[in-house]
Amino acid sequence: MTHTQLTQLDAAHFDSKARQWDDNPVFQERALKIAEAVRKAVPLRRDMNALDYGCGTGLLSFPLKDELGAILLADSSGGMLDVVTGKIAAQGVANMTPLKLDLLTDPPPAQRFDLIVTSMTLHHVPDTDHILRTFHDLLQPGGYLCIADLDQEDGSFHGPEVDVHHGFDRAELSQRAAQAGLADIQFQTVFSIAKERESGAQDYPVFLMTARRAGA
Ligand SMILES: C[S@@+](CC[C@H](N)C(=O)[O-])C[C@H]1O[C@@H](n2cnc3c(N)ncnc32)[C@H](O)[C@@H]1O
Repeated sequence: MTHTQLTQLDAAHFDSKARQWDDNPVFQERALKIAEAVRKAVPLRRDMNALDYGCGTGLLSFPLKDELGAILLADSSGGMLDVVTGKIAAQGVANMTPLKLDLLTDPPPAQRFDLIVTSMTLHHVPDTDHILRTFHDLLQPGGYLCIADLDQEDGSFHGPEVDVHHGFDRAELSQRAAQAGLADIQFQTVFSIAKERESGAQDYPVFLMTARRAGA
């Protein structure tokens, strides 16, 4: 399957999930824990220009919005962006802008960011090296990248019918991030998702990787 076909499938999948996304208490709790870890790892400021890539309904950015400047909420799913747009309007938020964007196929935005956050999206992006290089290039010198995603798992998180990365090995992702030009790479465990399996309960840990573009 081509990247474009995969992206269209993925976007259709997330379009259908968008309206119920915020009803899931695990998604809410996961985002709050990731936001808390971002807050501890990065000295957030009201003049920081931020990108939330694969923002979904904005669960990660909304808790951080009063500690940042402009936030671009980018996602390839129009359904997710419709929900974000509704939340921004309902809450009268002035510093958040939604944008339909797939950085593997669309031209990157012209602006540069002091902070890029991305939560549970990296495993949906087929070309990890490409997206890491793009994140690097989109950062201001000294800017921060925060990636939250699954630790390497056996494929059971999504099941065999879903074609995504089975989480990430931390050492390998760290090496890829360094190759993309990122520095000060650190990992911590921020959450764990429990799922019931035939064999019993299985835990899927979620890491936060923080890194910086050199040259502050
Ligand atoms: C598991 S959801 C996570 C949503 C949100 N970040 C959260 O933590 O609740 C993954 C999100 O990534 C988006 N996504 C998947 N592939 C993408 C791509 N290539 N470019 C942009 N967004 C993508 C999906 O549409 C979806 O909203």
